[in-house]
Amino acid sequence: MSEAITRHYGSAGLASRVVEALRAFEGPDVPITPEGLAPFDHFHGCGLAGTKDVAKWLAPRPGERLLDIGSGIGGPARWFAAKYGVQVTGVDLTPEFCAAAETLNAMTGLADRVRILEGSALALPLPDGAYDAAYSQNVIMNIADKPLFCREAFRMLRPGGRLALSNLCAGPGGEPYFPVPWATTRDASFLESPESMRANLAAAGFEIVEFRDVTPELVDAQRRVRDRGENRKVPPIAVDIIMGERAPEMRLNSLRTIEDGRAIAIEALARRPEQ
Ligand SMILES: C[S@@+](CC[C@H](N)C(=O)[O-])C[C@H]1O[C@@H](n2cnc3c(N)ncnc32)[C@H](O)[C@@H]1O
Repeated sequence: MSEAITRHYGSAGLASRVVEALRAFEGPDVPITPEGLAPFDHFHGCGLAGTKDVAKWLAPRPGERLLDIGSGIGGPARWFAAKYGVQVTGVDLTPEFCAAAETLNAMTGLADRVRILEGSALALPLPDGAYDAAYSQNVIMNIADKPLFCREAFRMLRPGGRLALSNLCAGPGGEPYFPVPWATTRDASFLESPESMRANLAAAGFEIVEFRDVTPELVDAQRRVRDRGENRKVPPIAVDIIMGERAPEMRLNSLRTIEDGRAIAIEALARRPEQ
């Protein structure tokens, strides 16, 4: 199963494509910063706006240790490190994404504050209780064993540690229209109901602090992207750069999937109890 996932996501030359996109829109001498790269390297439905929602909930304090589970090409991890003065560890299954993240960490001068490990969310290669906070954006859709995902996230946090999640859950309308940005076929897509997501978090030991349906916001964001059409004056977004020529079909299928009630966007904040 993990092969279906890494095959879906991985491709060569990702870091160069991201930097080329930034330079094409901001000029050849633009500084390479996490904020400048953000339109191109936050690879989830609402882009930087979605990462800002996570930040509002986690409210990271300088010096805290954050874990990004399924860190992609590292955009959110760099953005958190630069904006909040935190140390971030990112773990991701896709080797090409880890390599791109490391290149971009070095180019933004953040290699000492953002560490990337290739590995699975289901067997995190890290010690118990090592993090003050963790987040995972649009990753759980690729994970069949959701109870184990929740137990691993719980294990990573110190008592009182926070976990912020953005996830697409199953809607009542049937399965997604494939290919979508997170899966080429059903082999790599595992959507659960919102009720099951809550139950899995609670069973792992988490207290659920917030649990919001953000489907309308996601539909608005995806319709704005659709409506810009092939206007070359508008910068591409992360999915275009990362998924290449497959992206337009995936974007439209994702929007149809959500509009037809086949997926529900959830943002959640959970906490590991103090005791
Ligand atoms: C849609 S991308 C989101 C990337 C990143 N969270 C972001 O928002 O920019 C999903 C990511 O989940 C990763 N992933 C999927 N299954 C995983 C697993 N079992 N363990 C670790 N990473 C996984 C993929 O490699 C991919 O980078």
